[in-house]
Amino acid sequence: MSGAPPPLLVYGATGYTGRLIVERALEEGLRPVLAGRDADAVGRLARARGLEARPCALDDPAALDRALTGCRVVLHCAGPFARTAKPMADACVRAGAHYLDITGEITVFEYLAARSAEALRAGVMLLPGVGFDVVPSDCLAAHLHRRLPSATWLVLALHGASGVSRGTATTMIENIGNGGAVRRGGRITPVPAAWRQRDIDYGDRVRRSVTIPWGDVSTAFHSTGIANIEVYTAASPSAIRALVLSRYLGPLLATPPAQHLLKRRVRSRTPGPSVERRRAAVARLWGEVWDGDGHRAQARLRTPEGYTLTALTAVAAAKKVLAGGAKPGFQTPSLAFGADFILEAAGVEREDVVIPGPTA
Ligand SMILES: NC(=O)c1ccc[n+]([C@@H]2O[C@H](COP(=O)([O-])OP(=O)(O)OC[C@H]3O[C@@H](n4cnc5c(N)ncnc54)[C@H](OP(=O)(O)O)[C@@H]3O)[C@@H](O)[C@H]2O)c1
Repeated sequence: MSGAPPPLLVYGATGYTGRLIVERALEEGLRPVLAGRDADAVGRLARARGLEARPCALDDPAALDRALTGCRVVLHCAGPFARTAKPMADACVRAGAHYLDITGEITVFEYLAARSAEALRAGVMLLPGVGFDVVPSDCLAAHLHRRLPSATWLVLALHGASGVSRGTATTMIENIGNGGAVRRGGRITPVPAAWRQRDIDYGDRVRRSVTIPWGDVSTAFHSTGIANIEVYTAASPSAIRALVLSRYLGPLLATPPAQHLLKRRVRSRTPGPSVERRRAAVARLWGEVWDGDGHRAQARLRTPEGYTLTALTAVAAAKKVLAGGAKPGFQTPSLAFGADFILEAAGVEREDVVIPGPTA
């Protein structure tokens, strides 16, 4: 293998999103090593694509170490990451491999940020969130901060309507009892689900939107230092009612029997949005920053649908790291690759919004 590019390992390769990422990696000329806990499924996928399979469970450190042998970069796609990030980050630190994942979970971002010094000592980059959550919103936050460096408030909002995969639904179910979160004075602050509502102009039309505990409540602070952050998503009236109801039902739905039932229902669904549905959909993001002197800046992004974009940005990030673009320690997408990283993905457009009053 001397002279060959150091390999990429995709863990969770047989999941809905892992498969999209493997296909995208092949399109980009990469030959990833495939891994996951289901040896049969990993072996079948690897044989079908002519790739190497290294199945291993995350609770088997010796097997993980063998799987990571010779790998420079791990793209971790097995979630919920609250359960899976630690053993893979441990293995990456042991192996000296850079860790990338597609989490959107605030607790996971904060957990990995807390391991930054250790990763720095090991010369390893910890770069969670290289999917739809949080590449576009993180790059939008960094772009707005670049336009208004004095900003003390950041609001981000997103709209995408292609549906969710089983893995995303499972991750949402596991977080159902946790309510919402915003950042205030630099601290992640719990708030009720759908705590605030407002109408947001996504560029095509105005949509009713509610606060959600999206990953940027963690990451945008690391990327920009802005101490007050809220993230909204567009939601139908029935979805808003369900979110508000979850404030009261959340503790009940978080009990083991309710979790079991909800996850059983998820397993009977299709793995994720169909190709046709993904092709037909787009995602729209809007962001605003302001400072204490009344200066404001707004911008919007239009991107491919979330799972399609996840495959594009995750593989683009892995390629950059394989090409030597790693920054050891904890990183966000915009800290690692800059605010314009998102513009490198096909089908992405960014627009600075002209607003009345003192602007950046
Ligand atoms: N940031 C983003 O924008 C973004 C985009 C897409 C997905 N995601 C997240 O990525 C995760 C996967 O989503 P998906 O759509 O691919 O879900 P999926 O189709 O259900 O696949 C999940 C994969 O993770 C594996 N897995 C789960 N728990 C594991 C564990 N404890 N040990 C080893 N492997 C484990 C599964 O293995 P088995 O088949 O053996 O169960 C499967 O390969 C979810 O957490 C989702 O929220 C985030």
